[in-house]
Amino acid sequence: MLTMMAASIHHLCIMRRAGFLKHFFGFKYCSSKRASTKSAAAKRESSITKDQYENIERKPFYKLLEERKEQAERSVLVSCPSNTSEKRFLKHMSRHGDINNCFFYESFGTYAVVEFSKRDGVLSVFESASIPNFPHEAAVPFKSRLLSLKTNNSGDLASSQPSVKVLSQTAIPIDELVRRLSKKDSIDQQLLLLTNILQLTDENIRLRFLVCSLLRDIAASYFPECVVRPFGSSVNGFGKLGCDLDMFLDLDGISGISQEKTGSSYSLEYQLKRTSTERVATQSILSVIGECVDQFGPGCVGIQKILNARCPLVRFSHQPSGFQCDLTANNRVAMKSSELLYLYGQLDERVRALVFSVRCWARVQGVTSNIPGAWLTNFTLTMLVVFFLQKRSPPLIPTLDHLQALAGPKDKSIIDGNDCTFVSDLTKVKLQENSDSLEHLLLEFFEFYGNFDFSKLSINIRKGKEQGKPEAAPLHIQNPFQPALNVSKNVNGTQLQRFVSLCQESAWLAQQPEVQSRSDTPWGLAALLAPLDAVGKGKKSKRRRAEAPSARIKGLLESLRTGKASANGGSTS
Ligand code: GTP
Ligand code: MG
Repeated sequence: MLTMMAASIHHLCIMRRAGFLKHFFGFKYCSSKRASTKSAAAKRESSITKDQYENIERKPFYKLLEERKEQAERSVLVSCPSNTSEKRFLKHMSRHGDINNCFFYESFGTYAVVEFSKRDGVLSVFESASIPNFPHEAAVPFKSRLLSLKTNNSGDLASSQPSVKVLSQTAIPIDELVRRLSKKDSIDQQLLLLTNILQLTDENIRLRFLVCSLLRDIAASYFPECVVRPFGSSVNGFGKLGCDLDMFLDLDGISGISQEKTGSSYSLEYQLKRTSTERVATQSILSVIGECVDQFGPGCVGIQKILNARCPLVRFSHQPSGFQCDLTANNRVAMKSSELLYLYGQLDERVRALVFSVRCWARVQGVTSNIPGAWLTNFTLTMLVVFFLQKRSPPLIPTLDHLQALAGPKDKSIIDGNDCTFVSDLTKVKLQENSDSLEHLLLEFFEFYGNFDFSKLSINIRKGKEQGKPEAAPLHIQNPFQPALNVSKNVNGTQLQRFVSLCQESAWLAQQPEVQSRSDTPWGLAALLAPLDAVGKGKKSKRRRAEAPSARIKGLLESLRTGKASANGGSTS
């Protein structure tokens, strides 16, 4: 079976990359593009042709981010009444300028993202929009690109029959995912389908950049040159529908203005408030911006200032988009980590498929959680997958040291004294011929970490080698850009042991004939997504600890045999 999968890998290769590139490089949409939730899902599962794939220009990370940012700056977000007519809405909005793209979605009401072809469109909207009067309340007159569509008296914009097709911005429930995976013919195809279903859509990425742009407008009241940049899974290629929106307030554009040599005897500099450390300055900036978001930011609710964290942040919900947002400042290293993961994800399509599948498996098995704590995080899991792929023979992806050796002068990046340099031009990276199938990689991942000596060894993706542990933490993964830091410092012994046990159980389970043979009941990856904890019919964690692992997996096998394996019915997020 493994050989069969290896043979099919080349056929799938184009399809995989195509699916990824399609959403990431953002294909252009026509102005009145309409798509139902169903057709959007179908679109996600489809692939582009080989010709289209070969014509896609592979852009460096920062160029891609710049394009998305610029796109967002030409966009507005409009809350629409439920009976809005799409046709009339577009007609109305196009009075302000040509529309490049428009889509509708639901989040506490119906919203439209309208992207004009020029920024003039946004200015025209600002000129025509009015400040509302609330009969019994007062309002902060802060004008933003979050607007409401009002129906005028003659009913010009609305029709009694809603005609807006909304796109889903959330991940499908796990049981639906399991059902769809089970219909696939191979485990390789299951991993690819899972990635295509769960990954961020083009529209969701647009919305993320738009929210950053709206936040930037608030922060710009104090820092006109600032930029709010998304990082983490919103941009690193591993984001799943429903993942949080990590942003950082970039003030480098301010200090970047260099003193010109004018030949004059004098020059002027700004007087600035001083603080004892950069951390204190970051805390004070975030505190003020957090206050502005709280007081003036329409749709921003539940603001929490978490300023004493290792990386100070302001957390809030952006209701119009439905995103849980984390705003940080002075966080260039995290941006570099995002770029590195993006690059790894682009080098070989199997990287993303494996990361998505492992993350989904980990979520279902309770290895990761939405709640901060001693569990493994998605970031940690991704590092584990990267390291595992570097350790394949031949390696599927290169070490960070190798990527650094390929860097050109423009790639030079020193942040807080740490060398964060690595190549940005993907075409310079030559991969070795590794033909492992995804099925084989998934199984080997579980075997690898099920048997890894975490008690003695530290994981180092810079060298692609395990090393002796420099400190006593249960799990030690060296931060690739800050070698003195452990990215998995939060993980305790219990959670690590749980991960190891689940890897062992999943490795065993994956090799069972019931799981390997195609059938109508969950099989292959779908079977691995049935939570082992749930087996034993509702006798949850307390019972789990009492049972021997083999009893639990035997229970799962039994339920698979009888076709009763059910996922937890919750969402995958
Ligand atoms: P999800 O939000 O879970 O989908 O993944 P994510 O990659 O966005 O992770 P998270 O939101 O927890 O963190 C955002 C980014 O911050 C990550 O992608 C990393 O770049 C960075 N980051 C997170 N945790 C750590 C850590 O422990 N150490 C370091 N150096 N960076 C981290
Ligand atoms: Mg995140």
